[in-house]
Amino acid sequence: MTDLKALEETLLAEIAAAGDEQAIEAVRVAALGKKGSVSERLKSLGSMTPEERQSFGPAINGLKNRIGDALSERRATLRDAAIDARLAREMLDVTLPVRQTPAERGRIHPITQVMDEIAAIFGDLGFAIAEGPDIETDYYNFTALNFPEGHPAREMHDTFFLEKGERDEARLLRTHTSPVQIRTMEAQEPPIRIVIPGKTYRCDFDATHSPMFHQLEGLVIDKTANVANMKWVLTEFCKAFFEVPSLNMRFRPSFFPFTEPSLEVDIQCDRSRPGEVLFGQGNDWMEILGCGMVHPNVLRFGGLDPDEYQGFAWGMGIDRIAMLKYGMPDLRAFFDADVRWLSHYGFRPLDMPTLFGGLSS
Ligand code: DAH
Repeated sequence: MTDLKALEETLLAEIAAAGDEQAIEAVRVAALGKKGSVSERLKSLGSMTPEERQSFGPAINGLKNRIGDALSERRATLRDAAIDARLAREMLDVTLPVRQTPAERGRIHPITQVMDEIAAIFGDLGFAIAEGPDIETDYYNFTALNFPEGHPAREMHDTFFLEKGERDEARLLRTHTSPVQIRTMEAQEPPIRIVIPGKTYRCDFDATHSPMFHQLEGLVIDKTANVANMKWVLTEFCKAFFEVPSLNMRFRPSFFPFTEPSLEVDIQCDRSRPGEVLFGQGNDWMEILGCGMVHPNVLRFGGLDPDEYQGFAWGMGIDRIAMLKYGMPDLRAFFDADVRWLSHYGFRPLDMPTLFGGLSS
């Protein structure tokens, strides 16, 4: 009996000392397993006299039950402690401020932002985006756009000429995005509704001119496209882009070799406050783009029959409309790669411009 008492004390001490589920299992096996200390004693009941068994039996069974209970109790305590420890380890304080990841700190350049805004607006109007090469041939940049050989307009563009290409073609850095009009007409059947954002190059450099700048070209070709459609598209674009509910536009006659008639467009603005331009109000006008009905010769160069198809096109400076919209006075800062400028004028990368969510919010 004293032996049982001592065994119970030892086992209970071992149970209390077991620090994890593995340890508790080891104690269980050593006590209640097939060859465990308690099991061995249970087995010994078989060789006892009935009298011995009468007093020993309940004592051993009592011990077995108490050890079993102590084991399950200890196991439950350990399990609870393990869960508590895991909860403490994995706790997340949702009230902490968001950690600044590189994606949070980075900024989208205003030109990229404006291109994304343009894509959102024209995408909504059913236009697709087209692109072409920066290194162009004289043919696509001038000839196919109805610039006659030796015409002064070729010089007007301050072209960067390059060495001749493999096929002895005159090559240059495109002076405008208009050559992509021809490339698109060659590549796809009308109806065509595209906008062409891209880099363009001219030998010119001051506060409002950079030798590399960005243009947005637009081209619509079908059987009925007309000046009224063009006016509507351009007005809708300007309203959406400058985020004003109404806007007056003035269409003045002009000249481009690739359009007939050709027009230049001014938008209504208020420049009475220094350093600020407000659109859709005031009595001032600011020129923002050139446009016109595609010249029949250009349609022919693009492989289309001008008796069947007609269309309109326009071109505008992306850098310029970006400067106007976001009040950035010096174009040169766009290309300085100054992080301070970019963190001031740049846009948050996760705020994608959409018409429903807001373009520049
Ligand atoms: N390509 C012209 C330029 O760079 C802009 C332009 C004017 C494009 C009228 C057009 C247009 O498509 O119709 O000055």
